[in-house]
Amino acid sequence: MDYIFQTEKVTKSFGGLVAVNDVSIGVKEQSFTMLIGPNGSGKTTLLNVCTGVLRPDRGKVLFGGADITGWASHRVYEAGLVRSFQIPLPFLGLTVLDNVLGAMRNPGESPLRAPLHRSWLDHEQDNVDKALDILRRVGLARHWDQPSFALGAAQLKMLEVARGLSAGAKLIVLDEPIGGVDPASADEILSYVSGLKAQGLTFLVVEHRIDIAAPFADYVYAMDLGRIISQGPPGEVLNDPKVIEVYVGRDEAC
Ligand SMILES: Nc1ncnc2c1ncn2[C@@H]1O[C@H](COP(=O)(O)OP(=O)(O)O)[C@@H](O)[C@H]1O
Ligand SMILES: [Mg+2]
Repeated sequence: MDYIFQTEKVTKSFGGLVAVNDVSIGVKEQSFTMLIGPNGSGKTTLLNVCTGVLRPDRGKVLFGGADITGWASHRVYEAGLVRSFQIPLPFLGLTVLDNVLGAMRNPGESPLRAPLHRSWLDHEQDNVDKALDILRRVGLARHWDQPSFALGAAQLKMLEVARGLSAGAKLIVLDEPIGGVDPASADEILSYVSGLKAQGLTFLVVEHRIDIAAPFADYVYAMDLGRIISQGPPGEVLNDPKVIEVYVGRDEAC
């Protein structure tokens, strides 16, 4: 299997409410896998179980061949499964470059290396080079010395992705990356995400603006009432009568 990430029959309840019910999903390496479903269908709970924020009642979570079920979220993050909000929030007063440097694991700061001052300086320069390279990959290179508060909504989202890359992410989990962004900028964000995919990254994305995001998705899972009701290529899932029913039949757009 070329899945980098899987859940196997994951269930999570809150009291009597089964928020995620026997859910198995697979995320292929270098894919953009999208999770859709109306409000309350269990998407956020599933992401929480995937990233170690919540422990499932039953089932397994697998990442890169390891069983990570029940791992604390910081351990999941260190393994390279990064959810944007796990990275310390961008410091809006800091420059774009400093924000990317701040999310980096800096071997120069380890107490063992600190006495090796020369080595530490080399690492600093290396880190700046790496950070600038990451900024190029997300289209923020020319903003490197701007304070982050000067960025637009779309650029702030890309700064989040840049910080994920800087933290060594292999799989980036995004909750509504194009929420509150105009359609042209949304397209730009998704184009950059596609480019990063070609460079080896994998994305698991919850997105409400299905019309804009679907063309970029490789595979879609649709949830309703805690269960997966449809899965497949976007064209198939969006035309699945079961999916249309939960969105249109209930006259609900989210
Ligand atoms: N911490 C919690 N305690 C109790 N109920 C919760 C909690 N988190 C989510 N739920 C419930 O679980 C269901 C799924 O919620 P959620 O995963 O947030 O759905 P979605 O992200 O698809 O909107 C909802 O009915 C919600 O009210
Ligand atoms: Mg949610």
